[in-house]
Amino acid sequence: MNIILNKQISSYWDNHSKRYRKAQWTGTLTSQFDYEQTKRKLLRNLRPKRKEKILEIGCGPGIWTQLIAKNCFELVAIDISKEMIDKVKNYVKDNNVKFINCNFLDFEVNEKFDKIFSVRVIEYIPNKIKLFKKISKLLVPNGELVIITKTKKSIWDYYKKLKVFLRFYNRNKFNEVRQYSWFENLSLKFLKSLIKQNNLSILNISPVIIRLPIFKRGNDEIPLITKKLEKKVLKMFNYLSGKLSKMPIHFQLFIAESYLIHAKKKVLYR
Ligand SMILES: C[S@@+](CC[C@H](N)C(=O)[O-])C[C@H]1O[C@@H](n2cnc3c(N)ncnc32)[C@H](O)[C@@H]1O
Repeated sequence: MNIILNKQISSYWDNHSKRYRKAQWTGTLTSQFDYEQTKRKLLRNLRPKRKEKILEIGCGPGIWTQLIAKNCFELVAIDISKEMIDKVKNYVKDNNVKFINCNFLDFEVNEKFDKIFSVRVIEYIPNKIKLFKKISKLLVPNGELVIITKTKKSIWDYYKKLKVFLRFYNRNKFNEVRQYSWFENLSLKFLKSLIKQNNLSILNISPVIIRLPIFKRGNDEIPLITKKLEKKVLKMFNYLSGKLSKMPIHFQLFIAESYLIHAKKKVLYR
């Protein structure tokens, strides 16, 4: 990745390092709902084991680092943002964790990993071809990959596009819309093709956060649900997310804010 782009991305995340953990995962009932849904899916698929060496791409403030480190032998956590890495050390004290401040695309190491995971990061990494080549190279044969990323062609994605469109007409009201050349949601089709091209086979695809963008959280939602109703409506979405698992996957992903792909590295016989 070129130096200017690298700098742009790392300083964007440096600026978000103070508030990200609270805004995304802990600050409100809705963030906690998102955390619980993500945690459930991550653990169910990653299944960390005591003897395993695991790599985390884009650890941010360490919410998943903390969770996974307790259940594996060694965890290497990488992040492009120096501020994120400095802050994560306040939360994660486990001595089996090694933090590395670098762009994952530039990460060079001789060892290989039993598992690699990443939550809400690959959509911010511009060179997806290089990203998946590197992931595959770093996995042992039969090693596993769990990726959670934002949905494309979903209600969430369309709502964001609508906001970008409205901003064109009303700059003042919609000035919070984020648009960067290096940010891109990945469709399931594209993600599947990247997985297959890189000697990995798919084990599972699943929606992660299942609810509508109608809560007051971040700036990606229409805040229709009042604080009074928040708990009740979230409970309803929790119930619905269980029922939804019987529906076709494309329908599930249309409602979901994020989704997960779980894959395994193939063993090559000569
Ligand atoms: C949306 S945050 C997610 C953080 C964490 N995974 C979580 O779920 O709380 C994205 C993180 O990915 C990191 N990141 C973005 N591009 C990266 C890259 N090329 N290499 C390593 N980390 C990167 C950012 O610095 C940021 O901490």
